[in-house]
Amino acid sequence: MDYYIAPSLLSADFGRLAEEVRAVEKAGADLLHVDVMDGRFVPNITIGPPVVAAIKGCAAVPVDVHLMIVEPERYLDAFAEAGADVITVHAEAAPHLQRAAARIRELGKKAGVALNPSTSLSAVEWVLSDVDMVLLMTVNPGFGGQAYLPAMTGKIELLRSQLSRAGLAVDIQVDGGIKADNVSEVVRAGANVIVSGSGIFGTKDYGKTIAEMRQNIRRAS
Ligand code: DX5
Ligand code: ZN
Repeated sequence: MDYYIAPSLLSADFGRLAEEVRAVEKAGADLLHVDVMDGRFVPNITIGPPVVAAIKGCAAVPVDVHLMIVEPERYLDAFAEAGADVITVHAEAAPHLQRAAARIRELGKKAGVALNPSTSLSAVEWVLSDVDMVLLMTVNPGFGGQAYLPAMTGKIELLRSQLSRAGLAVDIQVDGGIKADNVSEVVRAGANVIVSGSGIFGTKDYGKTIAEMRQNIRRAS
């Protein structure tokens, strides 16, 4: 399995975003995770398509856009145009999940579906062959810097075993409270796309942190 480290720019210094992008890429980031929040699906408000376009303008690695917004299908084209390479919508926000995933693929992008911690895996059961990635939230979405919810380890294991049984090579992304010291736990459970915000941007030496994460991933996989 291929493993990817995706620093979440939510914890970057927004006043120096281009520099932060370059720094984290130089440090070994595989993807740039961008958190879009609307103040409705989640309590926080962050950024929209123009800032995604600015990030894309200085990015060398793929841009992974996590939409934490209501009615995400209304904005798929705008984020695709802004340069998102992966677009993830929440199952809780998109009643026609299959249609949303199909549209993302039609736009030539990778399609992800996300689940809040309390949402059962059954919410994605019938779209697993329509998506490239399932994002399991390991905190309640809305803010960086929260603690990993330990019950999510079992959820990751269960999804990975369901995917294996179905013979599907879908990525499992985990997001929330992941740091160098607990990345082994989620990788052992079956996650392969690791989002980390404060766990990377909250440290002094991004390169050292990412190298440590990668070493822990290698040992656990
Ligand atoms: C939370 C976001 C995350 C967040 C993770 O709603 O989806 O991507 O930035 O931050 P950490 O890694 O600090 O928990
Ligand atoms: Zn996120």
